[in-house]
Amino acid sequence: MRTTLKIVLPLIVSVASVSLLFAGYQVRNERRILRNDLARRAEILAESLQESVEHELGRGQERSLHRLVERYGQRQHLQGIAIYDTAAHLLALTPGLEPDLPLHPTAATKAMHDDKGAGEFLRPEETSAPQTSDAVPVHVYALPLHRDNEVAGALVLVHDTSYIEIQVSHTLRDALLDALVQTLLISALALLLVRWTFTGPLTRTFKWVRTLRTGQLNPPPALLQGEIMEQLHHEVTHLARDLHSARAAAETEARLRDSNASLWTAERLRVSLRDRLQDQPLFVVSNREPYMHVFDGKDKTMRMIVPASGVVTALEPLLLACNGTWVANGSGNADREMVDAHDRLRVPPDRPSYTLRRVWLSDEEDKGYYDGFSNEGLWPLCHIAHTRPIFRPEDWLQYQRINQRFADAVLQEMADVDSPILLAQDYHLALVPRMVKDVRPDARVAIFWHIPWPNAEVFGICPWQRELIEGLLGADLIGFHIQTHCNNFLETVDRALEALTEWDRFAVSRQGHVTRVRPYPISVAFPESPTPDTDPADINALRQELSNEMDIEAAHLGVGVDRVDYTKGIPERFRALERFFELNPGYRRRFTFVQIGAPSRTDIERYKNFLEEASSEAERINGRFQTSRWKPIVFRRKHHSHEEISRFYRAASLCMVTSLHDGMNLVAKEFVASREDERGVLILSTFAGAAHELTDALLVNPYDISQLARAIHRALEMPEREQTERMQRMRHIVREHNVYRWAAHLLSDLTEIRIEMAERAEV
Ligand code: G6P
Repeated sequence: MRTTLKIVLPLIVSVASVSLLFAGYQVRNERRILRNDLARRAEILAESLQESVEHELGRGQERSLHRLVERYGQRQHLQGIAIYDTAAHLLALTPGLEPDLPLHPTAATKAMHDDKGAGEFLRPEETSAPQTSDAVPVHVYALPLHRDNEVAGALVLVHDTSYIEIQVSHTLRDALLDALVQTLLISALALLLVRWTFTGPLTRTFKWVRTLRTGQLNPPPALLQGEIMEQLHHEVTHLARDLHSARAAAETEARLRDSNASLWTAERLRVSLRDRLQDQPLFVVSNREPYMHVFDGKDKTMRMIVPASGVVTALEPLLLACNGTWVANGSGNADREMVDAHDRLRVPPDRPSYTLRRVWLSDEEDKGYYDGFSNEGLWPLCHIAHTRPIFRPEDWLQYQRINQRFADAVLQEMADVDSPILLAQDYHLALVPRMVKDVRPDARVAIFWHIPWPNAEVFGICPWQRELIEGLLGADLIGFHIQTHCNNFLETVDRALEALTEWDRFAVSRQGHVTRVRPYPISVAFPESPTPDTDPADINALRQELSNEMDIEAAHLGVGVDRVDYTKGIPERFRALERFFELNPGYRRRFTFVQIGAPSRTDIERYKNFLEEASSEAERINGRFQTSRWKPIVFRRKHHSHEEISRFYRAASLCMVTSLHDGMNLVAKEFVASREDERGVLILSTFAGAAHELTDALLVNPYDISQLARAIHRALEMPEREQTERMQRMRHIVREHNVYRWAAHLLSDLTEIRIEMAERAEV
């Protein structure tokens, strides 16, 4: 109430003051108008009498003068008329006027002296009337009278002006009443408004904040749209989330100290990076951006999406842990709308923590560099999935030009930083390390190759293998997911270049520069705080909810999450499901496999055809088995957010990762990380890098359809105890080998390499 009063009271005072001022002005104005009006009337009446009076005065007829003043002295508000000669003798006077008139009013003297009309308002005490209570104020108007062109006297009109004051006092009363009503109305309205839009929501917000402080992450109280508190709720929600994760991090640290474990957390990475980088910003460059803005639907509303990309999944936590700049291709059709004059924006949108610098490509450049060289050439070259790589000279030209553009953007961003640290990403940017290093030899550069590196013979297919390797060797450190890829790389260098490959310490020396080659198995951030529905009952409810949304009935769900890419073994998976339902008819109407498939690289013919191929395979199999309320495969061909995918992970009895070849495959690790209930079975291809760590998955050869079908059956039949034991071990590995550890190892090796190089130079 006190707050409301504090806001409303000044308002009341202000409104009242303004209304009073206005009332004062109205009164003054009214008085002025009435007085002017009276003066004007007196003037007109005097002028109309002047001629007759002068005529009688000329004739010396005092009696006629008396008659005149008697006749005309009876008008409204006119008290009477007096006529004087030049010696101030009264010649005629309306009867009864004497008491109110000064013996010879100043106005008469003035009129005769100036030879023109003069008027004055007199208060009762200025008249000669006895000062009784009924004495009235008057207006006196005098007009000179002439005889033979000489001033011979004055005609004086006396008006009672008391009616003016009465009228003015009425006006004052009305104005005050208006002011009072206005003040009351406005104050009541203000009171209501303040309570409705401010104090009410504020009080609810306080209550909510209090519950947040106690650690309960409640949703904010409902507000009307666009309400002033919305922004505050938004900020407080984030603050509470940060507080919550800080608490969770502190708890984790405490637990770790207690158990002497060496788990890497976001907090530990932040501290470690701060020590190593001395608060320097970190630079990351990749083709794919972490946040993409697109115009969506018919009404072209702007939407922000997080692209389906292993690079994005892995690097986002790293950039969130330490401030920095991520340079990437602005590929969304609304991306240009969101950047500043330097093509930068702060992300993530809901809690800006680092800078995204967008690099622009024309359609033609994109076609040559991205579709052509990167995805029709290098991608199939590095993945043994039996799609023939295509190398066109014009694509290679674009690849070089665009690598230079990315390098220039990076150089621009790091211009003011001494000894900057750069993490370049993946096969799109193989030339960037050399391009950056040539200009900034003080920069510490690492490149992480997110896809497999094939053996030397296979890589030798690429007509520009030497240039690519030379570009990569500009880096101080090259990272792969697994040791085999490191070995393949060193063999390729051995064959393609005259460089010194040091197998004992996995390094390449070339023209005085050393490049280390190391395996860093990439991973995901392992959530430490339990999500609300780890309870089996909640998970059943979630499965039911998802089934309803998909309009099917199924007691078990399986899930696959992939970009629709020919390396992922999607048709093989579908065929294995077909075999499974052939062999196990009892699972028909009870088990549905949900394939989440983000359409990918659809400008490339092979991908477009592949999307169709996978879809018709799903349709064919569904056609064989489906009923009105059930189907074996639900193929969701669209982009899904992390949150949407996470619901499927948590509700599924099994997850299938059947890549024909894959660098790591983070879906396998995401599935494990999201199973806080320690249930669910992972079916994993031995050709995915993840199979080296997740040996408790059911490991399969995706080309062996019968083996895959058996694995599905085994997963669905697996006793809960075995599921838990396997899942616990896999969770332990993913938790320990999380993305923070990946980043910490990569960056700590990178910083140490520089120290070694300096030492070598000194020797
Ligand atoms: C793989 C690559 C990434 C790439 C991702 C998505 O994970 O290693 O570099 O970003 O696929 O592919 P896209 O072509 O959509 O970026």
